[in-house]
Amino acid sequence: MSLRSILSGVGGYLPERVVTNDELARTVDTSDAWIQERTGIRQRHFAAPHETACFMGAAAARAALAHAGATADDVDAIIVATSTPDQAFPSTAVRVQAQLGMTRGFGFDLAAACTGFVYGLSVADAMIRAGQVSGVLVIGSEVYSRILNWQDRGTCVLFGDGAGAVFLRAGQGNGTDQGILSTHLHAQGSLGDILYVDGAVGQPDRPGHLVMHGKEVFRHAVTRLAGAVEEALAANNLTHRDIDWLVPHQANRRIIDAMGKRLGLAADRVVVTVDRHANTSAASVPLALAEACQDGRIKRGQLVLLEALGGGLTWGSALVRM
Ligand code: COA
Repeated sequence: MSLRSILSGVGGYLPERVVTNDELARTVDTSDAWIQERTGIRQRHFAAPHETACFMGAAAARAALAHAGATADDVDAIIVATSTPDQAFPSTAVRVQAQLGMTRGFGFDLAAACTGFVYGLSVADAMIRAGQVSGVLVIGSEVYSRILNWQDRGTCVLFGDGAGAVFLRAGQGNGTDQGILSTHLHAQGSLGDILYVDGAVGQPDRPGHLVMHGKEVFRHAVTRLAGAVEEALAANNLTHRDIDWLVPHQANRRIIDAMGKRLGLAADRVVVTVDRHANTSAASVPLALAEACQDGRIKRGQLVLLEALGGGLTWGSALVRM
């Protein structure tokens, strides 16, 4: 039987500091009512200075390994999806490797904005199926609070900080179709200017702030994600009725609800964290997955569809039998 990537553990980390919409409204010209009505967001977590992508990623990784009953010795590779690394290099992944006390294996960062975790799952799955590695940590870790433009109320109220991780192990799926069934990745670079950061360490005196044309992103999100969902189901000869859980990227409650409706899934089959976490970019899908696995909603054997869309434009899906 061919090798498959089994999701053997999930974990998350959220900064201690919670910032409500009302607290934001003290310094930003906004209101709890506006934010909740347009996005479903009630609060977000903001990182303290020591809570970097590296620190939070390592914490989420430890939680995922513990959940899997594994240790750092079982890890061959670490992939960190982040747009907010501590440093240009070394990569966040090798810093996490050091924090986990690992003395072997390899790691690298991957940049695909909010789709980063789904991209990371796809790369890890390919490496596992090729027999290159047998234990991979895929982490999404972001501190968007450091790249927000506090003068732009159209974006600064939408994001939060956090990290999520999964530990993938090579396996045979116990004679079932357990594991990652498929991943589908997309990008359209010509849409790069509807959601971007206007700087980087390679730019003179421009660390960069997030810029977004919200309406354009919203329009693309609904159509592209619907396409990604249909593509994943068709590739596996499945229908909407086969899906047990949708774990979508957590950007906006209205986009999430639209996707759930298209799949014909009852609201209680769609994992939602955007109300409490806001948009944590590459961390949002693994954080939501970790929450729903650890509170017992998502169970072994169930079919879970992950999807995300973000700057690039990038988007994609992963279909997983837990
Ligand atoms: N508080 C109060 N008012 C705000 C506001 C805020 N935080 N942000 C914008 N407004 C105002 C605008 O100034 C505008 O006022 P005007 O009509 O007087 O000019 C009004 O609200 C409408 O703004 P608009 O930008 O058209 O709102 P919208 O209905 O498009 O909602 C988003 C804005 C960002 C919530 C919505 O476009 C969205 O969710 N987009 C997708 C975001 C997304 O998914 N991004 C992540 C992808 S990874």
